Amino acid sequence: MGGSVSAQLDNLPQYRRMTADDLEVVIAIENEVYPHPWTRGNFYDSLNAGYHCWIMELTGEIVGYGVVSIGADEAHLLNLGIAARWQRRGLGREMLKFLIQLAREAFAHKIYLEVRPSNIGGRRLYASAGFDEIATRRGYYPAHRGREDAVIMELNLK
Ligand SMILES: CC(C)(COP(=O)(O)OP(=O)(O)OC[C@H]1O[C@@H](n2cnc3c(N)ncnc32)[C@H](O)[C@@H]1OP(=O)(O)O)[C@@H](O)C(=O)NCCC(=O)NCCS
Repeated sequence: MGGSVSAQLDNLPQYRRMTADDLEVVIAIENEVYPHPWTRGNFYDSLNAGYHCWIMELTGEIVGYGVVSIGADEAHLLNLGIAARWQRRGLGREMLKFLIQLAREAFAHKIYLEVRPSNIGGRRLYASAGFDEIATRRGYYPAHRGREDAVIMELNLK
């Protein structure tokens, strides 16, 4: 695998801010790709809180989205999703790069995220972007049976 996005896709992805009008499509993707998806309320709250909520499009089709909160000099990547049929083409890596750049431009020194230990794809993606696993938060996520820990990852932006 690997290679640049432009080598694998006819058109380069475009980014724009998410609005409430996007939520139907975003939630459909969210439900498709996460076993424990965010609710509509989670997305509304993120929009209303002024978080950086972005859409990735390819020729007008929403293929992914990301949500980042940036405050003081820290950024938190709260969500990143790529539609199932568009996965493994470099788009997640591309969107992550975009969100990291956004955090840099907002003068964040670090970017943090939480990921399930069972999310091997997510952890590989973040590790390959330079994130380090710095801690485990016990029982952070609901799981099919009981709770699942969260791995906390950090990227130094300085
Ligand atoms: C995680 C996610 C965003 C990755 O998006 P993507 O567009 O498929 O990822 P990319 O094609 O850019 O992959 C980049 C690298 O991540 C790793 N990776 C991504 N998906 C993987 C998988 N299913 N299994 C193993 N490694 C994977 C690989 O190292 C990959 O590089 P490679 O293709 O050269 O081997 C996507 O799978 C997704 O939306 N998952 C559901 C939501 C989620 O778990 N989000 C992250 C937690 S917040």
